[in-house]
Amino acid sequence: MNLRPFPDRKIFIAFSLLALIGGGLVVFSFIGDGTNQLICTGAFDNFQSSAASMQLRAILHYATSKTVPQQSLNEISISFNVLKSISPCNFLVFGLGHDSLMWASFNPGGVTLFLEEDPKWVQAVLKDAPDLKAVNVKYRTQLSQADDLMKTYRSEPECSPTKSYIRGNTRCRLALTGLPDAVYDKEWDIIMIDAPRGWFAEAPGRMGAIYSAAVMARNRKKPGVTHVFLHDVDRKVEKAYAEEFLCRKNRKDGTGRLWHFEIPPAWNVTDGKGGTSFC
Ligand SMILES: C[S@@+](CC[C@H](N)C(=O)[O-])C[C@H]1O[C@@H](n2cnc3c(N)ncnc32)[C@H](O)[C@@H]1O
Repeated sequence: MNLRPFPDRKIFIAFSLLALIGGGLVVFSFIGDGTNQLICTGAFDNFQSSAASMQLRAILHYATSKTVPQQSLNEISISFNVLKSISPCNFLVFGLGHDSLMWASFNPGGVTLFLEEDPKWVQAVLKDAPDLKAVNVKYRTQLSQADDLMKTYRSEPECSPTKSYIRGNTRCRLALTGLPDAVYDKEWDIIMIDAPRGWFAEAPGRMGAIYSAAVMARNRKKPGVTHVFLHDVDRKVEKAYAEEFLCRKNRKDGTGRLWHFEIPPAWNVTDGKGGTSFC
């Protein structure tokens, strides 16, 4: 993994966080009682205990760390702009990384939940950023099974787009059945897929994450679309699964190795194919 220092990105992240905090300060000062709330100790305590605390921590972290997020400035900017327009929202992120504090800080007042396969990595990240919400998850697949899973899912009725569901769907090997209830119980406005690892045969691969993100998005009951961001689309499996489940017609943007999809709820789709295909 290339995690070189990248001053442009550090500056972008620091400015983005400053902009968010600046906005928060303006709103905060307007909802005060006419006195200067920001120098009032009690108000500042409240402010600190909210989302701003994480943003301050993020500024400190990225200003002093030599390790920056793996995604490029252009890639991060696409998700940043969507988050800016719909935050606070429900934001589900596959994978913990050097970008986690940044993603959580971009969604002040919202729910940002990270799903991580490696329990030791969860501990390592949470040691430095204890406010992040992260859970360890187990995957049932390996990257080496990607071709077979793609061929066989069509003949498994429980994987069908007409009755697709995730929780307890053990018959469909692409369904992520090992997630905590908190994931199934919420409708996610944004899903970022930058994990699990998918660069060696025994790694879990992102097949289940992509399929499950598509199913969750299609099952959405709230108004609006689900934004799905997929990283590493230069790789064969990510690309093939995106084409199969997230669909070219839903692709709204992309740069570098990142694609952005807007997936409408399935009840809102008339595909003329009788619901036999995800796309
Ligand atoms: C492809 S990386 C994504 C990295 C992330 N976008 C970032 O900027 O750091 C995703 C997975 O790699 C693993 N990983 C990433 N960095 C790691 C590290 N320093 N040590 C151990 N595992 C790591 C974790 O399992 C994580 O879920």
